[in-house]
Amino acid sequence: MEQYWSGSAVNRNKGMVENLQQYGVIKSRKVAEIMETIDRGLFVPNGAQPYVDSPMLIGYNATISAPHMHATCLQLLEENLQPGMRALDVGSGTGYLTACFALMVGPQGRTVGVEHIPELVSFSIQNIEKSAAAPQLKDGSLSVYVTDGRQGWPESAPYDAIHVGAAAPEIPQALIDQLKPGGRMVIPVGNIFQDLKVVDKNSDGAISIRTETSVRYVPLTSKEAQLQG
Ligand SMILES: C[S@@+](CC[C@H](N)C(=O)[O-])C[C@H]1O[C@@H](n2cnc3c(N)ncnc32)[C@H](O)[C@@H]1O
Repeated sequence: MEQYWSGSAVNRNKGMVENLQQYGVIKSRKVAEIMETIDRGLFVPNGAQPYVDSPMLIGYNATISAPHMHATCLQLLEENLQPGMRALDVGSGTGYLTACFALMVGPQGRTVGVEHIPELVSFSIQNIEKSAAAPQLKDGSLSVYVTDGRQGWPESAPYDAIHVGAAAPEIPQALIDQLKPGGRMVIPVGNIFQDLKVVDKNSDGAISIRTETSVRYVPLTSKEAQLQG
Protein backbone atom coordinates (compact mmCIF):
# COMPACT_ATOMS: atom_id res chain seq x y z
CA MET A 1 0.00 0.00 0.00
CA GLU A 2 1.58 3.28 -1.09
CA GLN A 3 -0.86 5.76 0.43
CA TYR A 4 -3.90 5.40 2.70
CA TRP A 5 -5.13 8.98 2.44
CA SER A 6 -4.15 12.15 0.60
CA GLY A 7 -4.98 15.85 0.71
CA SER A 8 -4.78 18.10 3.73
CA ALA A 9 -8.03 17.10 5.47
CA VAL A 10 -5.97 15.53 8.26
CA ASN A 11 -4.37 18.55 9.86
CA ARG A 12 -3.48 17.32 13.33
CA ASN A 13 -1.04 14.70 14.56
CA LYS A 14 -3.84 12.98 16.50
CA GLY A 15 -5.96 12.80 13.34
CA MET A 16 -3.07 11.12 11.52
CA VAL A 17 -2.72 8.53 14.29
CA GLU A 18 -6.49 7.89 14.30
CA ASN A 19 -6.41 7.33 10.53
CA LEU A 20 -3.53 4.86 10.88
CA GLN A 21 -5.56 3.01 13.52
CA GLN A 22 -8.70 2.98 11.37
CA TYR A 23 -6.77 1.58 8.39
CA GLY A 24 -5.31 -1.12 10.67
CA VAL A 25 -1.71 0.01 10.26
CA ILE A 26 -1.36 0.91 13.94
CA LYS A 27 -2.48 -2.16 15.86
CA SER A 28 -1.25 -1.58 19.39
CA ARG A 29 -2.04 1.01 22.03
CA LYS A 30 1.70 1.51 22.65
CA VAL A 31 2.53 2.48 19.04
CA ALA A 32 -0.49 4.83 18.96
CA GLU A 33 0.66 6.43 22.20
CA ILE A 34 4.21 6.95 20.90
CA MET A 35 3.07 8.42 17.57
CA GLU A 36 0.67 10.72 19.42
CA THR A 37 3.48 11.89 21.70
CA ILE A 38 6.08 12.53 18.97
CA ASP A 39 4.43 15.15 16.75
CA ARG A 40 5.40 14.54 13.13
CA GLY A 41 4.79 18.26 12.50
CA LEU A 42 8.06 19.02 14.33
CA PHE A 43 10.09 16.92 11.87
CA VAL A 44 9.07 18.16 8.41
CA PRO A 45 10.54 21.22 6.67
CA ASN A 46 8.55 24.46 6.99
CA GLY A 47 5.61 24.59 4.61
CA ALA A 48 5.21 20.82 4.21
CA GLN A 49 1.96 19.10 5.21
CA PRO A 50 3.14 16.75 7.94
CA TYR A 51 0.00 14.65 8.42
CA VAL A 52 -0.63 13.57 4.81
CA ASP A 53 0.20 9.90 4.24
CA SER A 54 3.07 10.54 1.88
CA PRO A 55 6.86 10.71 1.94
CA MET A 56 8.18 14.29 1.65
CA LEU A 57 11.40 15.75 0.35
CA ILE A 58 13.75 16.95 3.09
CA GLY A 59 16.65 18.01 0.83
CA TYR A 60 19.88 16.18 -0.16
CA ASN A 61 17.82 13.72 -2.26
CA ALA A 62 16.31 12.30 0.92
CA THR A 63 12.74 12.05 2.20
CA ILE A 64 10.88 11.66 5.45
CA SER A 65 9.07 8.35 5.05
CA ALA A 66 5.27 8.23 4.92
CA PRO A 67 3.40 7.92 8.24
CA HIS A 68 2.14 4.43 7.33
CA MET A 69 5.74 3.22 6.85
CA HIS A 70 6.81 4.66 10.20
CA ALA A 71 3.83 2.97 11.87
CA THR A 72 4.50 -0.34 10.08
CA CYS A 73 8.12 -0.38 11.24
CA LEU A 74 7.20 0.54 14.82
CA GLN A 75 4.67 -2.30 14.87
CA LEU A 76 7.18 -4.79 13.48
CA LEU A 77 9.79 -3.76 16.06
CA GLU A 78 7.53 -3.23 19.09
CA GLU A 79 8.63 -6.35 20.98
CA ASN A 80 12.27 -5.35 20.47
CA LEU A 81 11.73 -1.78 21.67
CA GLN A 82 10.78 -2.58 25.25
CA PRO A 83 12.02 -0.33 28.07
CA GLY A 84 15.76 -0.78 28.63
CA MET A 85 16.47 -2.23 25.16
CA ARG A 86 18.93 -0.94 22.54
CA ALA A 87 17.86 0.46 19.16
CA LEU A 88 19.73 1.57 16.04
CA ASP A 89 18.09 3.72 13.34
CA VAL A 90 20.16 3.66 10.13
CA GLY A 91 19.48 6.56 7.75
CA SER A 92 17.84 8.53 10.53
CA GLY A 93 17.04 11.55 8.29
CA THR A 94 14.67 13.90 10.13
CA GLY A 95 15.07 11.97 13.39
CA TYR A 96 11.35 11.18 13.63
CA LEU A 97 11.65 7.41 14.09
CA THR A 98 14.79 7.80 16.20
CA ALA A 99 12.73 9.92 18.61
CA CYS A 100 9.93 7.32 18.62
CA PHE A 101 12.46 4.55 19.37
CA ALA A 102 13.92 6.60 22.22
CA LEU A 103 10.51 7.00 23.86
CA MET A 104 9.84 3.28 23.50
CA VAL A 105 13.10 2.05 25.06
CA GLY A 106 13.20 4.94 27.54
CA PRO A 107 16.16 6.51 29.34
CA GLN A 108 17.33 3.13 30.70
CA GLY A 109 17.69 1.96 27.09
CA ARG A 110 19.99 3.24 24.34
CA THR A 111 18.93 4.74 21.01
CA VAL A 112 21.37 5.59 18.23
CA GLY A 113 20.54 7.29 14.92
CA VAL A 114 23.14 7.23 12.13
CA GLU A 115 22.93 9.37 9.01
CA HIS A 116 25.61 10.24 6.44
CA ILE A 117 24.49 13.79 5.57
CA PRO A 118 25.83 16.11 8.31
CA GLU A 119 23.20 18.79 7.59
CA LEU A 120 20.43 16.22 8.18
CA VAL A 121 22.01 15.16 11.46
CA SER A 122 21.94 18.83 12.60
CA PHE A 123 18.33 19.16 11.35
CA SER A 124 17.32 15.98 13.20
CA ILE A 125 18.93 17.12 16.46
CA GLN A 126 17.06 20.45 16.23
CA ASN A 127 13.81 18.55 15.59
CA ILE A 128 14.33 16.11 18.46
CA GLU A 129 15.15 19.02 20.79
CA LYS A 130 11.62 20.36 20.16
CA SER A 131 10.02 16.96 20.80
CA ALA A 132 9.11 14.80 23.77
CA ALA A 133 12.39 12.89 23.27
CA ALA A 134 14.50 15.99 24.06
CA PRO A 135 15.35 14.90 27.64
CA GLN A 136 16.94 11.74 26.24
CA LEU A 137 19.28 13.74 24.02
CA LYS A 138 20.32 15.59 27.16
CA ASP A 139 20.79 12.53 29.36
CA GLY A 140 22.77 10.75 26.62
CA SER A 141 20.45 7.77 26.13
CA LEU A 142 19.69 9.10 22.60
CA SER A 143 22.45 10.13 20.16
CA VAL A 144 22.64 10.87 16.45
CA TYR A 145 25.95 10.45 14.62
CA VAL A 146 27.29 11.31 11.16
CA THR A 147 28.57 8.10 9.62
CA ASP A 148 28.05 5.60 6.81
CA GLY A 149 25.16 3.59 8.21
CA ARG A 150 26.14 0.50 6.22
CA GLN A 151 28.74 -0.03 8.95
CA GLY A 152 26.14 0.40 11.72
CA TRP A 153 27.39 1.82 15.02
CA PRO A 154 29.46 -0.92 16.70
CA GLU A 155 30.21 1.23 19.77
CA SER A 156 26.69 0.68 21.16
CA ALA A 157 26.06 -2.83 19.76
CA PRO A 158 24.53 -5.35 20.10
CA TYR A 159 21.04 -4.02 19.36
CA ASP A 160 17.64 -5.52 20.13
CA ALA A 161 16.17 -3.53 17.23
CA ILE A 162 17.69 -2.20 14.02
CA HIS A 163 15.70 -0.14 11.54
CA VAL A 164 17.10 0.81 8.16
CA GLY A 165 15.34 3.73 6.49
CA ALA A 166 16.89 3.37 3.01
CA ALA A 167 16.90 0.45 0.56
CA ALA A 168 20.03 -1.72 0.53
CA PRO A 169 20.99 -3.81 -2.51
CA GLU A 170 21.65 -6.58 0.02
CA ILE A 171 21.57 -6.80 3.80
CA PRO A 172 24.86 -5.38 5.16
CA GLN A 173 26.75 -8.04 7.14
CA ALA A 174 27.87 -5.41 9.69
CA LEU A 175 24.23 -4.83 10.62
CA ILE A 176 23.54 -8.57 11.01
CA ASP A 177 26.65 -8.81 13.20
CA GLN A 178 25.42 -5.95 15.42
CA LEU A 179 22.03 -7.59 16.04
CA LYS A 180 21.69 -9.22 19.46
CA PRO A 181 20.56 -12.87 19.66
CA GLY A 182 16.77 -12.49 19.89
CA GLY A 183 17.07 -9.18 18.02
CA ARG A 184 15.13 -8.03 14.96
CA MET A 185 16.07 -5.84 12.01
CA VAL A 186 13.60 -4.26 9.56
CA ILE A 187 15.25 -3.28 6.28
CA PRO A 188 14.08 -2.48 2.74
CA VAL A 189 16.09 -4.56 0.26
CA GLY A 190 16.30 -4.19 -3.53
CA ASN A 191 16.93 -1.68 -6.26
CA ILE A 192 13.91 -0.74 -8.39
CA PHE A 193 11.70 -3.40 -6.83
CA GLN A 194 12.15 -3.48 -3.07
CA ASP A 195 10.82 -5.64 -0.26
CA LEU A 196 10.64 -4.76 3.40
CA LYS A 197 12.52 -7.64 5.03
CA VAL A 198 12.18 -8.74 8.64
CA VAL A 199 15.45 -10.29 9.84
CA ASP A 200 15.34 -12.23 13.12
CA LYS A 201 18.44 -13.47 14.92
CA ASN A 202 17.47 -16.47 17.04
CA SER A 203 18.93 -17.09 20.48
CA ASP A 204 21.49 -19.50 18.92
CA GLY A 205 22.53 -16.84 16.40
CA ALA A 206 20.72 -18.41 13.41
CA ILE A 207 19.18 -15.88 11.02
CA SER A 208 15.70 -16.08 9.52
CA ILE A 209 14.44 -13.61 6.94
CA ARG A 210 10.90 -13.01 5.68
CA THR A 211 9.28 -10.44 3.41
CA GLU A 212 6.67 -8.18 4.96
CA THR A 213 5.57 -6.08 1.97
CA SER A 214 6.72 -4.29 -1.19
CA VAL A 215 8.09 -0.79 -0.60
CA ARG A 216 9.82 2.14 -2.31
CA TYR A 217 12.66 3.86 -0.46
CA VAL A 218 15.64 6.01 -1.44
CA PRO A 219 18.82 3.90 -1.73
CA LEU A 220 21.22 3.08 1.09
CA THR A 221 24.32 4.23 -0.73
CA SER A 222 27.40 6.43 -0.50
CA LYS A 223 26.97 10.10 0.34
CA GLU A 224 28.51 11.06 -3.05
CA ALA A 225 26.10 8.84 -5.02
CA GLN A 226 23.12 10.20 -3.09
CA LEU A 227 24.06 13.86 -3.63
CA GLN A 228 24.59 13.22 -7.37
CA GLY A 229 21.00 11.90 -7.50
C1 LIG B 1 13.91 7.66 3.23
S1 LIG B 1 15.06 8.61 4.16
C2 LIG B 1 14.35 8.14 5.71
C3 LIG B 1 14.73 8.98 6.83
C4 LIG B 1 14.05 8.76 8.16
N1 LIG B 1 13.66 7.40 8.42
C5 LIG B 1 12.85 9.67 8.21
O1 LIG B 1 11.73 9.22 7.99
O2 LIG B 1 13.07 10.86 8.45
C6 LIG B 1 16.57 7.66 4.11
C7 LIG B 1 17.73 8.32 4.79
O3 LIG B 1 18.86 7.43 4.68
C8 LIG B 1 20.02 8.21 4.51
N2 LIG B 1 21.08 7.34 3.97
C9 LIG B 1 21.18 6.78 2.75
N3 LIG B 1 22.31 6.04 2.64
C10 LIG B 1 22.93 6.13 3.85
C11 LIG B 1 24.14 5.59 4.37
N4 LIG B 1 24.96 4.83 3.64
N5 LIG B 1 24.46 5.88 5.65
C12 LIG B 1 23.68 6.68 6.42
N6 LIG B 1 22.53 7.23 5.98
C13 LIG B 1 22.15 6.94 4.71
C14 LIG B 1 19.57 9.35 3.61
O4 LIG B 1 20.42 10.47 3.68
C15 LIG B 1 18.17 9.63 4.18
O5 LIG B 1 18.22 10.62 5.18
